[in-house]
Order: sequence, then C-alpha cells, then structure tokens
Amino acid sequence: MSKRAHFASKFGVLMATVGSAVGLGNIWRFPYQAGENGGGTYLLLYAIAVLLIGIPAMVAEFIVGRESRSNAVGAFNKLAPKSVWSGIGYLGVFTGFIIDCYYCVVTGWTLYYLFQAASDNLLGFGVEQYADMFNAYSTGVFPPIFALLLVILFTGVIVSLGVQKGIETASKIMMPVLFLLLLVLAANSCFMEGAREGLDFLFVPDWKDLTINNALGAIGQAFFSLSLGMACLVTYSSYFKDDVSLLGTATKISVIDMSVAILSGVIIFPVVFSFGMQPEQGAGLVFKVLPNVFTQMTAGYLWSFMFYVLLFLAALTSFISITEVVVAYISEAFRMSRVKAVIITSLLFATIGSLCSLSFGPLSGVKIAGRNIFDSMDFLATNILLPLGGVLTSLFVGWRLDRKIIENQLAINSKGGYAFLKVYIFFLKYIVPAAVATVFVTGLIS
Ligand code: TRP
Repeated sequence: MSKRAHFASKFGVLMATVGSAVGLGNIWRFPYQAGENGGGTYLLLYAIAVLLIGIPAMVAEFIVGRESRSNAVGAFNKLAPKSVWSGIGYLGVFTGFIIDCYYCVVTGWTLYYLFQAASDNLLGFGVEQYADMFNAYSTGVFPPIFALLLVILFTGVIVSLGVQKGIETASKIMMPVLFLLLLVLAANSCFMEGAREGLDFLFVPDWKDLTINNALGAIGQAFFSLSLGMACLVTYSSYFKDDVSLLGTATKISVIDMSVAILSGVIIFPVVFSFGMQPEQGAGLVFKVLPNVFTQMTAGYLWSFMFYVLLFLAALTSFISITEVVVAYISEAFRMSRVKAVIITSLLFATIGSLCSLSFGPLSGVKIAGRNIFDSMDFLATNILLPLGGVLTSLFVGWRLDRKIIENQLAINSKGGYAFLKVYIFFLKYIVPAAVATVFVTGLIS
C-alpha cells in the first residue's frame, strides 16, 4: 500500500483547514443571516454554538479522521465495521452533494463580481444601481449559469489532480492576506458616518429576537461555517501528522473562523445603516452592499480587485473541500478513477446547480414549504443535515469509540488531562446531542 500524503507543516495544516472553513459561509452567509434574524442576538447564539457545540464536534471529527486515516465513509467503516455508524459517512457524502449544488451558484456570483472589478465596471455607481446590478445579474438565465459552470470546471480540474499540492501552498499565503484585507475594510467601515447604528445592530442583542428558529439557524450556521457535520474535516485530519494537537488546532480554527464572520459583519452593517439600506435583504445583501464600500475608498479599484480575488479563492477552497468528500467516496466505492468520478459529479452539480441558480429568476415561483429551490437546499443541508451529522459524529466518538483511542489522539497523559478527557466525553455524550436535539424538537413542535 502506498504511504498516504501528509500536510507538511503545522502552519500548513492550520491554513489548509482554515481554507476549508473560511469561505462564503463567513463572508456571505453570516451577514445576510444576521441581517434577517436580528443581528446581535443571532451573533450571540452563533458564538455560543461555536464554543459549546462546534469545538467539541470538530475535535470529534479530527479524532475519527486521524485515527482511521481514511475518507468520510471509509473512516466510520474502519472504526466500526459493519455497524450502523457507517451511515454517518454516507450521510456526509449526501449532505456534501447538496451543499455543492448551491455553493457553486454563490461562488459563481463572486466570480462575476471579480470580473466586474477587474474590468473596472464596478465603481462609481449609487446604492440603487448596485442593487439593480445584482438583481439583474442573479435573476438572469445564462450569465449566472455560465459562471457556476466555470466554478465547477476549475474545481474539477483541481480535484482531479489530487489533494495536497494546490490547497496547502495556496491557503498558506491566501488566508492571512484575506484576513488583513478584511481588517482594512472593517476599519474603513467603522469610520463611516453612522457606523454606530450598524455596529449596534450587530453587537447588541435584542431579546425579542431570541427564538427557537434563530437558535436552530445559529447552530446550523456554526456547523456550516466551521465545515462540520459532513465528515469534511475527517478527510482533512486524516492527513494530519501525529504531533498536531487536535484540540489546539480546533480552537484556533474556530476562533479564526468566527473572527472572519464577525469582521464581515463589521464591514457590512455600518454601510447598510449609513446608506439607509435594509439589513433583511436575503442572499444578495453582501453583493449589493460591498460595491458601495469600494466606490468611496481611495484606490477603490485595487481594493475591490484584491478583495474579490481573495473571496473567490476562499470560496473555491471551501468548495473544493466539500467536493473532495463526494469525489473520494464515489471513486472508491464504485472503483473508478478520480477523473471519472469528477466528471460524473460535476455533471450532476451543473444540472442541479443550474436549477438553484434559476430559482432566483425564471423558477422563482417554484416553492417548497415557502422557500425557493436554492433556499430549500440550503435549509435542508444547513439546518437539518449538518447538525444531524455533527451530533451523530459526537455520539459515535463519545459512546462507541474506545476511550484509549480518544486518549491517544488527544495526547493525554497527565492528571489534568484525564479530568479534561472526562469533561470532553461528557460533552460528546450528552451536551452536544442534548443541545441540538432540544432546539430541533422545540422547533418542530412550536
Ligand atoms: N465552511 C465553508 C464556508 O464557510 C463551507 C464548507 C466547506 C462546508 N466544507 C464544508 C460546510 C463542510 C459544511 C461542511 O463557506
């Protein structure tokens, strides 16, 4: 058997995993969800979800990945052969498939804006015109489909070439630069006239927004943003070396990931309020707001170009990480080459992705329980399948996996360590499942 590849450096490990975690979930989804669900309260619920549920669940995925050293489905099969637990892997592949189908749509929008920025067609307009620009584009038929096909094509090429090469090297440089750029943009927004109102919206909770639906949404967002709940990080951690600290890595990733989401909110909301826009605009929010920022910045062309390049690459690395789960499974399970698996999955993404894209335009009348096709897929994946996958993984590690394995993976060998282990396993067995189940069930019956 050939030796499996490893991520070369610890910084590389961190940045590659951050590359999966940081993406449209932070920069596009978080602000628009916060905008629709009462800013400060949503942020608070999301932060609690990341700390209490996200970090323990992430460590659980890491344990499964590094212990089994295999992909989503293989991992559970290997650690619990012929048991129902292997269902977690299949569930992950299915969830990844659903997310891919609509993630490519938004990645395509990003590509369009990158194109507009590069060809200097983005600056110098007003609030209304930017809103019209987005609406005209996203409700169109061919242009957004063309963009998502390009995205699927790029990804297909990268994924066919194999895991490590591109992802690790690229993320090491890109992620820190993206972070710096977001800091600059956030500072810029904070100095805007009327910034205060936007920051209040984002940071000050309003208890009337404290609802079960918001709690479920925030839990889903935590899973989505941290790339949890579909065994994606199982695949990543299967490439971690033995001396990488799982808890340390999970904590760092979660903090970085949450900071990016908050920064994105700090960039968006001051603009929303100082330009008199509405925070609850749905999926287009970020795309309508950001051009206003670049237009009033000195050297706006440069900032906008850099930003959209980085956003596009951040989206692409996340998209790749999801696709990898699906492709790895299909190529192994059906014994076909990676290239063949990529071609088959890409065709499916392209077809269903196009339907998602059209659901903003010609197919906007097609509704499932009041949501269009795109929103339905997002709701199913984020609010239902990811939390389900995350809870099952936690239960698996907490109840089924040998304690010795957990001990080894967390490199526990001191008294304090054992005490921590007890608390951690308690979290996996009870707290994570109970928290998610409570929110689920209350949501269903209310
Ligand atoms: N976390 C990524 C983002 O925020 C999206 C993503 C990548 C993802 N891999 C995942 C979401 C696995 C859920 C599961 O954009």
